Amino acid sequence: MPADIFLVLDFDSTLVRVETLELAAELVAGDAGMRERIKKITDQAMAGRMDFRSALTQRLQLLHLHLDLLPKLIARLQSKITPSFASNRAFLAANADRIHVVTSAFQQVVIPVVETLGLRADHVHANTLTFDSTGYVNGLDWNNPLSADDGKAKIVTALNLPGEIAVVGDGWSDYEIFRAGAAQRFYAFTENVQRKEVIKAAKNIAPSFDEVLYDCGFRGALSYPKNRLKVLLLENIHADAVAAFEQEGYVVESVAGSLDETQLAKKLMDVAIIGIRSKTQLTEQALASASRLLAVGAFCIGTNQIDLAACEHKGVAVFNAPFSNTRSVVELALAEIILLMRCIPEKLRLMDQGVWDKSAKAASEVRGKRLGIVGYGNIGMQLSVLAESLGMEVCFYDIAEKLALGRARKCASLDELLETSDAVTVHVDGRPENAGLIGTREFARMRAGSVFLNLSRGHVVDLEALHQQLDSGRLRGAAVDVFPEEPRVNGETFEHTLRSLPNALLTPHIGGSTLEAQQDIGRFVSSRLIDFINTGSTENSVNFPALRLPPQAEAHRLIHVHENVPGILAHINQALAAHGANILGQYLKTQERIGYVITDINRNYSEALLEDIRRIPHTLRFRVLY
Ligand code: NAI
Repeated sequence: MPADIFLVLDFDSTLVRVETLELAAELVAGDAGMRERIKKITDQAMAGRMDFRSALTQRLQLLHLHLDLLPKLIARLQSKITPSFASNRAFLAANADRIHVVTSAFQQVVIPVVETLGLRADHVHANTLTFDSTGYVNGLDWNNPLSADDGKAKIVTALNLPGEIAVVGDGWSDYEIFRAGAAQRFYAFTENVQRKEVIKAAKNIAPSFDEVLYDCGFRGALSYPKNRLKVLLLENIHADAVAAFEQEGYVVESVAGSLDETQLAKKLMDVAIIGIRSKTQLTEQALASASRLLAVGAFCIGTNQIDLAACEHKGVAVFNAPFSNTRSVVELALAEIILLMRCIPEKLRLMDQGVWDKSAKAASEVRGKRLGIVGYGNIGMQLSVLAESLGMEVCFYDIAEKLALGRARKCASLDELLETSDAVTVHVDGRPENAGLIGTREFARMRAGSVFLNLSRGHVVDLEALHQQLDSGRLRGAAVDVFPEEPRVNGETFEHTLRSLPNALLTPHIGGSTLEAQQDIGRFVSSRLIDFINTGSTENSVNFPALRLPPQAEAHRLIHVHENVPGILAHINQALAAHGANILGQYLKTQERIGYVITDINRNYSEALLEDIRRIPHTLRFRVLY
């Protein structure tokens, strides 16, 4: 640690999440009005709008606290230690000689609380409660400088600490230590409360204790302050994702639309995580300046808009939401199968024209009909189960070996499926080889009077051939949700010859567009990204080898991404051995182009080890989690 820095910590709303007097007010039997008055006085004093001694006197009088309640108060305070101090307990204990707690709270309660953090009782400078003969608090030791306004500065000056002093506190009285010249730094601590006046006056804001330690140069002893991780979210990403990132302490910037390449390149310079949907093109140029970027979240299904190779080359992991809208697509497909079998598209058009055509001609139930599913993946399989529950007979065709669910039957060929089904629905993925998978030849094999659906990708079906089938009436109807060319923005005109056909049920690529799917995507992708940042886990990553990792217990985790060439693991282990690092766990996974090695090691290692690993040839990215 930097040898000459001393930390002066405030207690109320800094070391603990609450104000001692407000918590005491909750414990004594008193009315809500009394608690409200105490809180008001605290806020006035904290903001520097009321003199300190009268604030304290007034609150103690209102409170009427008895000695017997102190153990309970101490226990409650112990359970309310601020998270970023609790997680740095080891640091606090190891550096207790350099840490002083200076507070206007009361030593009778402060000492037992800070001792649980490993801090020293003789480094607690606090007020002393006095009691009357019946055990009720009747005041304070008014000779203690801390019972007056400028008391904290006086105490810190009197400590005469031989080095730079950094004060950490949420209130005006903490800032006054710095203002009086008794300390060289002041951190407005905002993890528990944000006091406008204090934040405005302070040069340094600390959303957590990690930030203080990082800024003071105590690297390696603590967690990387999450408030230094910037998240940029484009294209109206769901509020649940924003909330998840904010909950983690990241700084989130949301932009409603997408950005062009130049704007993106500029923004990405200091961003750690970017979240996009389908409209943002994440090109190599846009990524060129993104030296801090760790991960990309595609808050959608497809990742065609992202240059995955460029991301790999920078050691940037990409995550998407492959299953979040599966159910939405399935429900729409089911509804459309029913609508097509009942000739509803034609009926709707007639009704629009005022034509009453009540007839059962060509309309049939789906029960007992055969559904042919082309592509038995996430969507195909779920559709299979739901269609069976409606009484349909399901057969499927997939180029990969797939387990048939329920009573579904696998077809030996696509032709067999086409020739035997009453409804054919396509759910293959978008690989280039699937272009024109269903064309004139395939439609000709389908049963006369059957229905057809495509909710997969536009290029998979030859829509000219489909047009002929529908126009001639050979197929009863078709539902199409995806097109080879789709308007880029809402409101742009959609031109297509299928529009003129009454038996074509056309939708604007909304198979997966439901509120539930959007919410699920927001939650799923943000959780993958947060997990990757916190643990290095790459499960469900689109471009990284998948590693699911155990939590790091009492270890520092070295995360190394490299080009997949032989011998990198050996280099890493040589460096670890040369520096005498104790390996607690190691995980390696490679894929075609990159390798991913995670090593958990004991906390006592030198910075030189990290430098040596960083310098290993073919290293794409290296970071340490602690
Ligand atoms: P998936 O990857 O889980 O399943 C695709 C399946 O198709 C795989 O089992 C694969 O082996 C199979 N397959 C690929 N080519 C084939 C071929 N030529 N013949 C037979 N089987 C083949 O994908 P998932 O999640 O089920 O999605 C399916 C399609 O739906 C994708 O194209 C996806 O882009 C699209 N989709 C459309 C949405 C919409 O809004 N309309 C929303 C979500 C997905």
